[in-house]
Amino acid sequence: MLTIRSLGHACYTLHDGTHCVILDPFLEGNPDAVCGPDEVQVDFILPTHGHADHLGDAVRISKAQAAPIVGVYELCAYCARQGAQTVPMHIGGQRQMPFGTIKLTPAVHGSAVISDDTIQYMGLACGFVVTMGQATVYFAGDTALFWDMALISRSHKLDVAILPIGDNFTMGIEDAAQATALLKPDTVIPTHYNAFEAIRRDAGVFAQRVGALSEATAGAQCRILDPGEEFIVSDGP
Ligand code: NI
Ligand code: MN
Repeated sequence: MLTIRSLGHACYTLHDGTHCVILDPFLEGNPDAVCGPDEVQVDFILPTHGHADHLGDAVRISKAQAAPIVGVYELCAYCARQGAQTVPMHIGGQRQMPFGTIKLTPAVHGSAVISDDTIQYMGLACGFVVTMGQATVYFAGDTALFWDMALISRSHKLDVAILPIGDNFTMGIEDAAQATALLKPDTVIPTHYNAFEAIRRDAGVFAQRVGALSEATAGAQCRILDPGEEFIVSDGP
């Protein structure tokens, strides 16, 4: 059994009762955050890229909890220089973890740490396929729609896909619905919308669109998770 919890914007935890990973740990300064960075207990930290609304509190949580950051090599090197523990990987690579596996997938997006006076590039943005026990979750990160999403569903039977719908910086509603058709997950969870003005979108419209495409999506169900809500993936029969 795996529990997916939304912590607000694009931050989620995946929990199997023993291990907990946090995806895109942006909590401090996140207008939709349901808790602070000191209120989560995690074993691994998975940032998809260097933008502040994703890398967020990764280094702080890593140092406070001795939890490694797992991600793209360049981003890991940046975090390691700030004292974080890291597990450097790169796109296409998969790794055994104490709870299952992590694989880094492509994402069509930038990755940089942007401060007042500098822009430091962090390699490529990525997504993650995480297996925990019986459950497989694809977390797309920030990305455009890309055709190779079909390859992800060819090699992984996805229980859940978590896809951005906010438009402007990532896929919007229509592209995310098309992505659902390429990925064919049992459940699709929309993310990366509403936290900021430029990405205010109606997730109900996405749910309707996914419903209308049910033949192409192999019957994927849309589940809208408000910040603080959970979705449980139960082990198959
Ligand atoms: Ni981004
Ligand atoms: Mn973002």
